[in-house]
Amino acid sequence: MRNSDVYRHPQYYAIGYRWNTEAECDFLEACLKRFGPPQARRLLDIGCGAGRHLLALAKRGHEMTGIDLSPEMIGFVQDTARQEHLSVTAAVGDLRHLAVTGTFDAAYCFMDTFRFLLTNDEILAHLRAVAERLVLGGLYLADFWVPSRWDQIGSEIHQWEQTEGGTTVRVFYLQHPESADPVAQTFEDELVFEVVEDGQTQTIRGGRTRTRLLLPQEFRALVSASGVFETAGTYGDFDLSGPFERDTLSWRMISVLKKP
Ligand SMILES: C[S@@+](CC[C@H](N)C(=O)[O-])C[C@H]1O[C@@H](n2cnc3c(N)ncnc32)[C@H](O)[C@@H]1O
Repeated sequence: MRNSDVYRHPQYYAIGYRWNTEAECDFLEACLKRFGPPQARRLLDIGCGAGRHLLALAKRGHEMTGIDLSPEMIGFVQDTARQEHLSVTAAVGDLRHLAVTGTFDAAYCFMDTFRFLLTNDEILAHLRAVAERLVLGGLYLADFWVPSRWDQIGSEIHQWEQTEGGTTVRVFYLQHPESADPVAQTFEDELVFEVVEDGQTQTIRGGRTRTRLLLPQEFRALVSASGVFETAGTYGDFDLSGPFERDTLSWRMISVLKKP
């Protein structure tokens, strides 16, 4: 499996993906309050990227640990934590072979990172490995892209832009429908960053990565088959006010799993 080359540029990732971070942290804290163990504060960020949730939650007083496959991302998290005088643990690690030590009140895997688990066996092994690290009553939150229309499965394009200081990052998320394997339920997608800085524009192509097409009912069945979690709820757009359903469809379905 190859990782997208855009993840070798955490300084641009941090700008391009900053948009909804505080609201996503609010959602996580609301889930801890509603479903989690009392006084939950030890949190594990799986696929932490440039650390947008990890660092924000550390500032809110949580005890944070993060792993990510990209050494550049982990270096960026460590440097930022040092500059901001935050004490966090961040290490290179693979969500397919979770090797973290310690016990956590909750874990989360945000921004579609869960779809790097390509097979049912990888998903089941991952769920069991996460559950092993959680206290009884601990939570696992994971979000992943859900197709908005059947006739567009694997052919969506999303784009947005964010500016910080003098740098603008345009993010393009592209799916390649011709790469779809209907048996394995995988397809290739790609991230491209267009960075405008000091009057210059550079394009960073992440290259194609193979990801899983995972559907809500199937995910629920896998969670149940794992034997280690129950589904406390599924939500769209980090909104706890109602369940994820056809009328509230968003491109990110967030599942809240609880270790019974
Ligand atoms: C879309 S980013 C999400 C980052 C962060 N969770 C966020 O919400 O901004 C996906 C991240 O997953 C990481 N990643 C990809 N494959 C991975 C794997 N097998 N194990 C751990 N991290 C992985 C990438 O390096 C990247 O930082």
